[in-house]
Amino acid sequence: MLPEARTVLHTWCRQTDWRAPTIVGGDGARLLTAEGRAILDMSSLAECSNLGHQHPRVVEAIRTQAARLCFVTSAWGAEPRARLAELLLEKAGFDGGRVFFTLGGADGNEHAVKFARQASGQPRGWVITRDRSYHGASYAAMALSGDTRTATQADPTTYRVIHVPPPYAYRCPFNTATADDCGHAAAARVAATIDERGAGEVAAVLMEPNAGTNGIVAPRTFWPALREATRARRVYLIADEVMSGFGRCGEWFAWQRYGSENRPDLMTLAKGLTGAHAPLGAVLVTADVARVLETQTLMTGLTYSGHPLSCAAGVAAIESYLQENLISRSRTLGAAMYARLRELQARHPLIGDVRGGDGLFAVLELVRDRVSREPLAPWPEMHPGIGRLLQQGMAAGVSFAARGNLILLAPPLVIEERDLGEGLDVLDGLLTELERTLRTEGVG
Ligand SMILES: Cc1ncc(COP(=O)(O)O)c(C=O)c1O
Repeated sequence: MLPEARTVLHTWCRQTDWRAPTIVGGDGARLLTAEGRAILDMSSLAECSNLGHQHPRVVEAIRTQAARLCFVTSAWGAEPRARLAELLLEKAGFDGGRVFFTLGGADGNEHAVKFARQASGQPRGWVITRDRSYHGASYAAMALSGDTRTATQADPTTYRVIHVPPPYAYRCPFNTATADDCGHAAAARVAATIDERGAGEVAAVLMEPNAGTNGIVAPRTFWPALREATRARRVYLIADEVMSGFGRCGEWFAWQRYGSENRPDLMTLAKGLTGAHAPLGAVLVTADVARVLETQTLMTGLTYSGHPLSCAAGVAAIESYLQENLISRSRTLGAAMYARLRELQARHPLIGDVRGGDGLFAVLELVRDRVSREPLAPWPEMHPGIGRLLQQGMAAGVSFAARGNLILLAPPLVIEERDLGEGLDVLDGLLTELERTLRTEGVG
């Protein structure tokens, strides 16, 4: 067999640099490489394997569904699809709402925008999103994203998208004194942008309610203020919960921390929806949006929308979150992980900021100088030392995720406490090593 390095186009890398391990199995928070090594997964791969790897209930559900019925056209009915839609609406508290199934997060966000535009009667209405966000890598999703990696590929204006600055409290674009003020200021900018365009021209605001893959964790003032601003202007609010959903931020969905009055009008899901055991995304719409859409023809379709195998995996995933109390487990372990990271920060001058901790999600922002907050490398560059840290982690049997100057921690919600502690011990050692090399290079 030809090696994969010669036949496959891999994501987010120069093909000639691709050196990733081949994974042949998994169990809980560990992955098994083709060489027979076990790797502790401290990022749930792409922050998606919330249930760990090869979760037995989900694997069994896929097997059972495959034996019964693999596929039915999305235009006809499928039992696991109906069941999953019912469960999702219940968990979200979207009584009387509806679900549209997609294949992942990017097409989920594209469809959420499509539905918001249709329901608002503005087929080309503006959509407001923010810088330092990630909503996917298809064309419209790139335009929606505020992501430096894809910014040159899609012109937001062509897609009727406006970007605003993010609630990035550590380096607040609004120069506020506190994180709470930064959250308020970011929401106020959205309100001002709607007012500038005219509320009748803006179909929706699409944002990550809490955590995002670009390392922003919104202060707790942000989402309620954003909800208030959009409601007052009768503009639909779409929550991108692709990463933050399914316990990642300590709730079924991150916005739920702020109570039902802060419910979005639409919500997109993927990743934890099946714990990445099968590809699946979803758009949930509230009863109010559903009522408008129900009497109109939906001009959209995806051959694999609500694929029975994926929906069966989704139903089993939700049963697993419930039966294993994984949402509250994420809250408890997330608080412990955050406390440990703050303790690391006290000892490692390299750690400028620690954010997250509402569930098993946290971001470390690495700096050259903690007082001036000078970044280790200008965003979005990654300092070679961080690349080395990732490699040394793998050599020690632990996989970490990083973006630019950020280390993203998002272990599976099933991780054993002992394993979490071991992963953080390894990180502690790697940071000490990195600080030592930076000192010899004259940094910090
Ligand atoms: C917040 C968010 N939205 C959307 C996406 C895109 O999802 P997908 O890769 O399934 O298209 C991601 C993926 O990382 C994400 O983190």
